[in-house]
Amino acid sequence: MKKYFSLVALLVISFSIANNGILKAEDSSLSSAPLAGPQDKNLGIGPVKKLVLGPIDKKMVEEGKALYTAQCIVCHDMDQKKIGPALKNVTKMRTPEYLMNVLLNSAQMQKEDPTMKALLKEYNNMPMPDPGFNQAKARAVVEYLRSVAK
Ligand code: HEC
Repeated sequence: MKKYFSLVALLVISFSIANNGILKAEDSSLSSAPLAGPQDKNLGIGPVKKLVLGPIDKKMVEEGKALYTAQCIVCHDMDQKKIGPALKNVTKMRTPEYLMNVLLNSAQMQKEDPTMKALLKEYNNMPMPDPGFNQAKARAVVEYLRSVAK
């Protein structure tokens, strides 16, 4: 009998969690966060104030791809929204400084940067975890993202 009750309780709890999830998902599809477009000049907030890009560096692309596969694919798809936004053309929409600062200083960006704040809201207040990168690793991932942009 006791077993039966805890099973019912478990069902009720999991149902309400699932239901909540569905409601949240609906909310997010309705929201249209004021995201910046392709001309975005936002540099973000963090250690990288200026980054001048040269021609694509193949070695960095390889390193970035490996890091991306290990740490980013779980939440980001190239072409469509997953847990986080699609990243294929993110290097065309955002400045390299912003992208570096997202990777190096995500917590402060989520609190203070207007673009990141809007994204956080759009993605159900699911904060992207700090990937724990140094600048070289962040830079390699940015290079990989440049290489996939169309
Ligand atoms: C646990 C899920 C998760 C992981 C892992 C993750 N992200 Fe994110 N990412 C998000 C979410 C959600 C957002 C939207 C903003 C927020 O909630 O912080 C985001 C936002 C971003 C943005 C900003 C996009 C824009 O349009 O401005 C970039 C760039 C980004 N992530 C890159 C990465 C990279 C590169 C990695 C791997 C090192 C990574 N993310 C790992 C969930 C994740």
